[in-house]
Amino acid sequence: MDKIRVAVIYGSTRPGRFCHTVVRWTVERLAASEKFQLDVIDPADPSAEPSIDERPSQFLQQRLEQADAFVIVTPEYNHGYPAPLKALIDSSGAQWSAKPVAFVSYGGVSGGLRAVEQLRLVFAELHAVTIRDSVSFPGAWEQFDESGALRNPERSQRGMETLLARLNWWAVALRSARSTSPYALSA
Ligand SMILES: Cc1cc2nc3c(=O)[nH]c(=O)nc-3n(C[C@H](O)[C@H](O)[C@H](O)COP(=O)(O)O)c2cc1C
Repeated sequence: MDKIRVAVIYGSTRPGRFCHTVVRWTVERLAASEKFQLDVIDPADPSAEPSIDERPSQFLQQRLEQADAFVIVTPEYNHGYPAPLKALIDSSGAQWSAKPVAFVSYGGVSGGLRAVEQLRLVFAELHAVTIRDSVSFPGAWEQFDESGALRNPERSQRGMETLLARLNWWAVALRSARSTSPYALSA
């Protein structure tokens, strides 16, 4: 069976963003499982940026289309999701349909969970399936050391194993279902 293709998506485009540290950890955990083939989509990269007229770049469209599953790595800005992440999500439509989306979040006391809860509503509209199990890092900058390693990795690693097991289950099931019967024709 082909490996599940997972696109990891940066939530932040801020200069000096902490997102990079959390994406790096997320990619390491995905790579350790060996079930997944990875793509990393960064809205700060001009090739992934939605175009000014709101039409998504073809390259971004293709990468979203090819993905069987998504992991969004996001902080929380003023109790919501970052605007560049929403712009990236809104720049595509059917590419999200009938695919699973999981979340790794970070921030202050809430660990970015308020952004995650709002994103669940957004992805419901896009016919995506959000994974109940998420990993969050409250006070994230204290949890990672200067080299970007977690000071106490066990709990987050266990959480990530659960997240990835669920993501894999849904990705396998939905990939098979999409190939048997195209989702667009289901209504
Ligand atoms: C505009 C803005 C709003 C923020 N609002 C929140 C917030 O509501 N809750 C929270 O926990 N942290 C908040 N923070 C702190 C962020 O969690 C922290 O700066 C984090 O590093 C942002 O991720 P980034 O560095 O990858 O952009 C906010 C930061 C910014 C820049």
